[in-house]
Amino acid sequence: MKINILSGALGAEILNFSLNTITNDNFKILNDLLLEHKVVFFRDQNITPEELMYLGSLFGTVEEHAYVKGLENFPQITRIVKAANEKNQWGEGWHSDVSYDLKPCKTIILRSIKIPPVGGDTVFSNMELAWETLDKDIKNIIHDKKALHESNGSKFFVENYSQMESNGTLGEKYSNEHPIVRTHPETGNKILFVNPTYTKKILGIPENDSNKLLEKIFRHQERLDLSCRFKWTDNAIAILDNRCTQHYAIADFYPGRGLGHERIMDRIAIVGDQPF
Ligand code: SIN
Repeated sequence: MKINILSGALGAEILNFSLNTITNDNFKILNDLLLEHKVVFFRDQNITPEELMYLGSLFGTVEEHAYVKGLENFPQITRIVKAANEKNQWGEGWHSDVSYDLKPCKTIILRSIKIPPVGGDTVFSNMELAWETLDKDIKNIIHDKKALHESNGSKFFVENYSQMESNGTLGEKYSNEHPIVRTHPETGNKILFVNPTYTKKILGIPENDSNKLLEKIFRHQERLDLSCRFKWTDNAIAILDNRCTQHYAIADFYPGRGLGHERIMDRIAIVGDQPF
């Protein structure tokens, strides 16, 4: 096994490690790598949907997506398709997945099926480092506060994308309140747990102050020195710790520039803990 670090902030590409022959014994190595690097990448992984599900099950219970219908025989596998004639891309904009759930997923596994010849990278960002480097005055205001997270409804996940199919939850919205600074249940590290896609309000302060503070925090979170960027190839896998990272799928291969390409990914997510 060889480890190539992607940036000083987070992310490592792991070479000579087969995810389809993983056992309970070497799962500990994988989980330790994930806890250390927060997102780990593997190329040329010929993994079947059954093997992907097995890999996910080593982390915990694999859940179905709140809005999107999964594959016919594997309802927990969400196929994310950006069609060639579309500009919009699922996962565009900084977010941690389903932070509006009571127990937002702890681990996400993304598998690339079809990657455009140019563009379509995903950027990941370290939210422990975001907390460490946040302005002291802002830290003092928010350290014991909670924020409201809200799913943007089914339109956000399905109706904007021609190839994404609803699981029937049209019109449903989900919301929950979580501590702004959460503790990682496995490492004990502090994490800045708000994101510009789903966090709507800091609770216990006037709305105007909440808007201003959130805006400052979101600008801080998108600092490039907190991030790493992964250039996908077909059959690559990313495993990310959704508790302490955010990610952003870049849609820079759209028809407007004559770059109308299709991009297809499979995604599974593992049930997490209630943030504390
Ligand atoms: C997502 O945000 O869940 C998808 C990320 C990607 O397609 O790169």
